[in-house]
Amino acid sequence: MTERVVAGGRVEEDAQYEAGLRPRSLNEYIGQYRVRDNLEVSIEAARGRAEALDHILLYGPPGLGKTTLAYVIGNEMGVPVRATAGPVIEKPGDLAAMLTNLQQHEVLFIDEIHRLAPAIEEILYPAMEDYELDIVIGQGPSARSVKVPLQRFTLIGATTRAGLLTSPLRARFGIVHRLDFYEAADIEEIVRRSARILGVVIDDEAGKEVARRSRGTPRIANRLLRRVRDYAQVRADGRITVEVARAAMKLLEVDDQGFDDVDRKLLLTIIEKFSGGPVGVNSLAAAVSEEKDAIEDIYEPFLIQAGFLDRTPRGRIATARAYEYFGLTAPGRDSRLW
Ligand code: ADE
Repeated sequence: MTERVVAGGRVEEDAQYEAGLRPRSLNEYIGQYRVRDNLEVSIEAARGRAEALDHILLYGPPGLGKTTLAYVIGNEMGVPVRATAGPVIEKPGDLAAMLTNLQQHEVLFIDEIHRLAPAIEEILYPAMEDYELDIVIGQGPSARSVKVPLQRFTLIGATTRAGLLTSPLRARFGIVHRLDFYEAADIEEIVRRSARILGVVIDDEAGKEVARRSRGTPRIANRLLRRVRDYAQVRADGRITVEVARAAMKLLEVDDQGFDDVDRKLLLTIIEKFSGGPVGVNSLAAAVSEEKDAIEDIYEPFLIQAGFLDRTPRGRIATARAYEYFGLTAPGRDSRLW
């Protein structure tokens, strides 16, 4: 896969920077106001009762702040966050060890929770519901089950696709929130805040320009900001003016919509190879040489949200807007079988 400056997924460099740019409290957290307000109530209520916060499931496209929010929640509850990820937990014993090590009200954060192996997921059921582990000792007729009590903890699970979670797991989360792409004004504010933290001067117009190309995604905004800062330092006097921002992003091949070559290839393939669609995601993935999951989790959500792509029961279609973007005329809908 090509390396994309506008990809929502986390890369190594982001991880280093995110630690510094990440808001630590709900007050500092910009955007997602509905989620924020709801969490504020849940946290204050749990704190007031001196109880563990209910288990929380956060879902939505990559880069929107699910991990950030998990740390904010831990901070607001005044407890540490122990973090892991679905694909990393290989043996049931690994998860059992993490669970038994948790102190009262602490947070266990499991990223990509939809990728837990079934045998491992089953450990979570009694842990989440009754705060206990069911351990089977021995084999055959002499096998017996031992219950190990756990401290009352909070599980925060994150996933890009809530639909991939099994229903018994989903049912055990008392609080479920979906994160959406950020409003333009919120991304602008995030860019200004990050610029302040990074100690770089950015004009209002330039901030808007970076924000507009960030696909409503803070991680992308912060990454673009760092690339533009590099450009300003090397090719200008260090200040990010609108001209500097535009020139930097031209060099990065990030266009006005925040599209890069993968987005363009996806849309153009639907238009040219599949006559605008509908085309099934498997055929599309094969045609553009990308993983089906990557199309569904990463590329598609933004293209749909921005109105360039539609998902129909018969497959994906390019919208009139997508045709316009390439300077093409969309075929009349009436003459086609949609
Ligand atoms: N940096 C990344 N995401 C952020 C957010 N939602 N609010 C403030 N700063 C951020």
